[in-house]
Amino acid sequence: MKADKEFDFSFKQFDRLRRLAHDYSGIHVTDDKYEMYYARLAKRLRALKLNNFTDYITRVEKDKDEFREFINAITTNVTAFEREPHHFAHLKQIISSWSKPTINIWSAGCSTGQEPYSILVNILPICRQKRINVKMLATDLDTDVLMKAKAGIYPLEAIDAYDIDTKRKFFKRGKGNKEGFCRVKPELTGMIDFKQLNLIYPWKMDQTFDCIFCRNVLIYFEMDKKLEILDRYAAQLAHDGTLFLGHSESIPRSDTSWQTIGKNMYQKRSL
Ligand SMILES: C[S@@+](CC[C@H](N)C(=O)[O-])C[C@H]1O[C@@H](n2cnc3c(N)ncnc32)[C@H](O)[C@@H]1O
Repeated sequence: MKADKEFDFSFKQFDRLRRLAHDYSGIHVTDDKYEMYYARLAKRLRALKLNNFTDYITRVEKDKDEFREFINAITTNVTAFEREPHHFAHLKQIISSWSKPTINIWSAGCSTGQEPYSILVNILPICRQKRINVKMLATDLDTDVLMKAKAGIYPLEAIDAYDIDTKRKFFKRGKGNKEGFCRVKPELTGMIDFKQLNLIYPWKMDQTFDCIFCRNVLIYFEMDKKLEILDRYAAQLAHDGTLFLGHSESIPRSDTSWQTIGKNMYQKRSL
């Protein structure tokens, strides 16, 4: 602990807060995240005009709204358009040989929306040509990122990965006080059902998905939680559906219900 901090933050307080976050979100936080917790939560103390972490913890424990702000503050939301592009190339292949009228896709842990929008940008031209109806669900635990995802406004550099035609087709360039930003066209935003969903608790959903993207999310959970969520994905995925995980994630060999079909891509093993 550094002595020059604006607020005293003991290891015990850090531990209390990470346990609260873990119980609710499943996010496992190691000791080395102490400074990260301090930096993110000191902002909340300033916003609430609190002088110390003792009062902050009491507030988090008693006030539902602040608990939500706390969870939003501790989630890590790094994402980008066209992140791990080999997944989109594979998805285009799937769509090219698709023979059903609808494709159902879930982006689980969608953060600020770049993942579900990247999916649409890649598949829509083929889907339109083949008259395939796209249904897309995008979920996250963090309510702040979901608001940003719905708004669909990003700095222009965020869409550097796209050529000029793609930019014109799917994004609108900001003018005046929106100079330097772009907005995803409403036809795309309107195609996505954005919802808050906590992956660590069983969810209720009627539909099955042809593709589930859950990239760079499971890394935050402990093994038993990961395996539990993977089982629930298996139940939610169509028999020939594909699960996409992040670059540093894989399904443990001990879980024999999945087979690898490409880099961080899996299908259910047929019985
Ligand atoms: C690093 S981002 C990944 C974003 C995107 N999938 C990608 O790969 O670019 C991880 C996201 O998982 C979300 N998350 C963390 N714990 C969660 C939980 N228990 N339920 C749902 N989402 C969660 C975070 O809020 C965050 O937005």
